[in-house]
Amino acid sequence: MDDESDLSIAADWLREARNVVVFTGAGASAESGIPTFRDDDGFWQEFPVDEFATWRGIVRTALVQPRRLAEFAYAVLHPMAIAKPNAGHLAIADMERHTRVTVVTQNVDGLHGAAGSTIVHEIHGSLFEVVSLKGRFVRLISRRQVQAMSAKLERIRKGWFCLPRTLLAIRPWLGLGRRGLHRPKLVLFGDALAEPDWTLARQAVQKCDCLIQIGCSGVVWPAAELPQTAKAAGACVIAIDPQRTPADIWLRGTAAEVMPALVKRAFGDR
Ligand code: APR
Repeated sequence: MDDESDLSIAADWLREARNVVVFTGAGASAESGIPTFRDDDGFWQEFPVDEFATWRGIVRTALVQPRRLAEFAYAVLHPMAIAKPNAGHLAIADMERHTRVTVVTQNVDGLHGAAGSTIVHEIHGSLFEVVSLKGRFVRLISRRQVQAMSAKLERIRKGWFCLPRTLLAIRPWLGLGRRGLHRPKLVLFGDALAEPDWTLARQAVQKCDCLIQIGCSGVVWPAAELPQTAKAAGACVIAIDPQRTPADIWLRGTAAEVMPALVKRAFGDR
């Protein structure tokens, strides 16, 4: 079947659906200028997983190679601080005018909320939330604070580097309170997924009749189980990705190109 007829069939399924889950990964934010993790220019190419994808690795890097920590924090913060929702995020939010939509995202960039999506479960946490070491809520931080952190790290990168200056630059993420040390609400390898988002995400997937997976490589668990959970519950699974992706229908292309086209084909311009 060709791309055109695939799009038409996917649009028919979406139009008939009553409960849609949109499951997104890093690819959904790539066209907002945020690198993915595993593509050629992905984060994990430049920052090895064993040094930067666990809290133990990050603490060790801070002690052994503190400058690398500042570079990593800047590489994560800068693109997310300046990012804007792309046409894919906006089409997902717009779809709420036509059907019931729940967004389940692995992304921590807050772009679904910024695009106007009203039900968003962030299963890998959020850059804009601070928690205690045990994951208890402490406070929210604004995109403006994240931009200020990124600007301070940029000055450190270009200028005189030292660890205390780096920790001061990311101070909104840190702290000490009655619940102990504070940290950003980011789920790293070996961590439990963010709650209540993970529980709510699984409930939504078990009830949905159509799941649209956008920009997920499907190699990180337990998030990667969600499309199969939807399928087992009788839902149809549509995937949007430039790379071939297992699904009932795989729509070849990018989030910002294909998602608006799919919503338009399903619901027209009304
Ligand atoms: N539009 C849609 N999909 C895209 C685009 C795009 N513009 N660009 C890349 N992709 C696809 C890639 O083909 C790939 O399938 O997005 C996917 C990105 O895969 P990963 O980099 O592995 O990102 P993700 O699946 O979100 O990773 C899962 O791993 O590192 C951890 O916690 C991190 O949440 C992350 C998790």
